[in-house]
Amino acid sequence: MNSESSSQIVSRNFTFSDKPLFRDADILECDHVPDQVLFRDAELKELAFLIKPGLRGQRPANILCRGLPATGKTTCIQHLFGEIRDVSNTLIPVYVNCQQNRSAFAVFSTIYRELVGHAPPSSGIPLRRLMDAVAKALQSRRESERTVLLVCLDDIHHLIHEGTDTQILSSLLRIYLDYPGCRASVILVESDLALDISRRLDRSVFSSLCMEEVFFAPYSAAQIRGILQERARQAVYPSVISPEILDLVTDMTASTVTGDLRVGIDLLKRSILRAERAGRPAVTDEDVAAAYGDARLTHLRGLVSVLTEKERRLLSVIAGMVEEGEEAREKEYSRKEYGGKEYGECGEPVPPTSGRLYSRLLEVMAAEQSEKQQRAMEQRAGGQQTREPQAMEQGAGDLRSGDQRPVEPAVCAEPEPGYGRDKSPEGKDGRRQDQVPTISYTSFHEQLRSLATYALIRISVRQAKGRTSEITLRYPAADVKRICEGVE
Ligand SMILES: Nc1ncnc2c1ncn2[C@@H]1O[C@H](COP(=O)(O)OP(=O)(O)OP(=O)(O)O)[C@@H](O)[C@H]1O
Ligand SMILES: [Mg+2]
Repeated sequence: MNSESSSQIVSRNFTFSDKPLFRDADILECDHVPDQVLFRDAELKELAFLIKPGLRGQRPANILCRGLPATGKTTCIQHLFGEIRDVSNTLIPVYVNCQQNRSAFAVFSTIYRELVGHAPPSSGIPLRRLMDAVAKALQSRRESERTVLLVCLDDIHHLIHEGTDTQILSSLLRIYLDYPGCRASVILVESDLALDISRRLDRSVFSSLCMEEVFFAPYSAAQIRGILQERARQAVYPSVISPEILDLVTDMTASTVTGDLRVGIDLLKRSILRAERAGRPAVTDEDVAAAYGDARLTHLRGLVSVLTEKERRLLSVIAGMVEEGEEAREKEYSRKEYGGKEYGECGEPVPPTSGRLYSRLLEVMAAEQSEKQQRAMEQRAGGQQTREPQAMEQGAGDLRSGDQRPVEPAVCAEPEPGYGRDKSPEGKDGRRQDQVPTISYTSFHEQLRSLATYALIRISVRQAKGRTSEITLRYPAADVKRICEGVE
């Protein structure tokens, strides 16, 4: 076979399509910062106005940016920070992703890196010394007498859940007292609209913040369409996405619980990939329909991956209860149909209430604990069996030499960190209480709130015989369970 015919075979078998559809696929990546922020002029102007004193060496206002997920909060701040870097040496913006930097050390390391250009040693230095180094770096960068640090703590709820918010905020706000000549302001960003920052932050920290709020309203369907259209224009060749396809993707995006723009961007990318793989010159309705399920699942996977282990367990318990409710409803239908018995009205499955969920979580934790203990006992039994002949020999030797070694302590399953244990050895039922894991209702509620923040569940208050909260899953229970348990 000559070289020309072999290259023809390669091009016939391995080219997906003659014409690639993407001009620049990175434009449709979630972390892409667009050149233009659309429909956020008012918010950008407001932020710029509040920050402006910093350019003159005065302390800017402390700001709280609130808005549902994917409403452009991070994008707007990244844009403004880029502009500030271009025009000022007096105001030093530092962006901190609190999901990735939850401890005071991690936050101050990020500030240090921004000021010095490289990371501090990752271990071995106390926080106080790191803060000294940050202040010194700030002082040495002083162009004039006044240099101001502007720290954006994005997704502040991570610090609140971690319990590090007070230390970080008060250190930043007091920096001018500890290090004369240094000043700092903060921008807090929050997407959980139900989270009452004024109540969650330490009272004295909150009152010294005196924050100005900038609210990011959800995008309308027309705005979602405009943003998606601009992204598609930059990402693919003309006519790959027709106006009808853009309408379809917009409708699907707007129909997600929070009108999540990220789902729309991901949906565009996946639809184009499908069309390209099939060798089509443009995206079809079928491409979008097939990509929709994938896009939602990817979004779900992304959300679950940032949960703590405890939050993931709680989510999995909720999914289990929702599934049980769905199964029960199906059984009820089939009994009605085939058994002819009356089982009451068949309606939607009743969503779990927070009270029932709390009890179920305790049951699950108790079951996990006893499983752990069972395993530990089996390991101990296995270990003893293999040790016994040796121990007998050793014992004989010890006795001969008069050496009486202490008996090895039994291996006990450790309680999970973060969960309290009743100190009294026995409860009312005579069971050893120190073996029953527990979680306070407050911690449980914090985890629940966190799941709501990520738009994984919805908590709605119902007035029945008293106020009760109902929990609804925002994704199919079976998918949630599979992803939480890592069975994929
Ligand atoms: N006004 C806009 N113009 C162009 N792109 C936007 C705009 N708003 C959001 N996007 C795009 O939507 C995605 C999500 O935006 P962004 O990360 O800024 O949202 P967010 O409000 O910070 O969300 P979260 O609260 O979940 O962190 C990004 O890919 C971003 O580029
Ligand atoms: Mg953000």
